[in-house]
Amino acid sequence: MTTSGPGQTYGGSSVGGGPTYQSTVDDSREAAVASVLGPEQTAKLVSEVREDLSVFDGIVDKARALIARYPQSRSALLPMLHLVQSVQGYVSQAGIQFCARELELAPAEVSAVATFYTMYKRKPCGEHLVSICTNTLCAALGGDDIYKTVREHLGEPGKPLGHEETVGTPGEPGSITVEHAECLAACDLGPVLQVNYEFYDNQTPEKAVELVDALRRGEKPAPSRGAPLTDFKDVSLQLAGFFERESDVDGPSAAAETLAGAQLASDRGWTAPAMPAKVEFPDLEKK
Ligand code: FES
Repeated sequence: MTTSGPGQTYGGSSVGGGPTYQSTVDDSREAAVASVLGPEQTAKLVSEVREDLSVFDGIVDKARALIARYPQSRSALLPMLHLVQSVQGYVSQAGIQFCARELELAPAEVSAVATFYTMYKRKPCGEHLVSICTNTLCAALGGDDIYKTVREHLGEPGKPLGHEETVGTPGEPGSITVEHAECLAACDLGPVLQVNYEFYDNQTPEKAVELVDALRRGEKPAPSRGAPLTDFKDVSLQLAGFFERESDVDGPSAAAETLAGAQLASDRGWTAPAMPAKVEFPDLEKK
């Protein structure tokens, strides 16, 4: 979709255009406000709430390429949020306004989505995001101990690091944000943790401390499986759908434990019964 008006052109067909444009949505809102407050007060108000979006100039082409993938621009919102996160390491107020401008949405609509999903961080994130599973199975296998130990180890004496708190300066090398996570879909390998969504399986408090110490030193220990470790901003770009290197999608992600059932069935020649072409559904009890 392409929308154009005074001073703006954006949408699928304008990919590659310059970053200087103004949203019709903003213009019409400004006009409505100006009719009540007058031009001077409106200009002051707008300058107070409008963020400087120039930090995103380098991703305008990528944003427009994303938008062009969908019949309706608003469908690109989730990858767009990952994209702005790849620039600043979180979804800032400026990031919300950038998404709103590109997608012709109200900032409140973007904000509602950004605050719903835990993968979008509202505070600057560390170079690495460490997510420790404390859901039922991992918790019972030691996940709670791992979370407690890591928080205490990275925090100050008597003041463990809290959920989504960062040790070090966010974005700087060796900085780490810690969070507790719900089931990470690797229960057969629990307790697990992730660094930038890469898996570290079968953890113990000791192994987790060794891992975060290595991250603090600037090292990038290899995950148990999947692609090599990068950093939170880089992985946000991948989640937006941009893979800059072949290694971004490299590495087997399945574990032997996950495939054990399929391997056993294969060794014993077990197969699932063929699905009949037509299946009669049983009568349902009338309500
Ligand atoms: S409970 Fe931790 S991965 Fe499922």
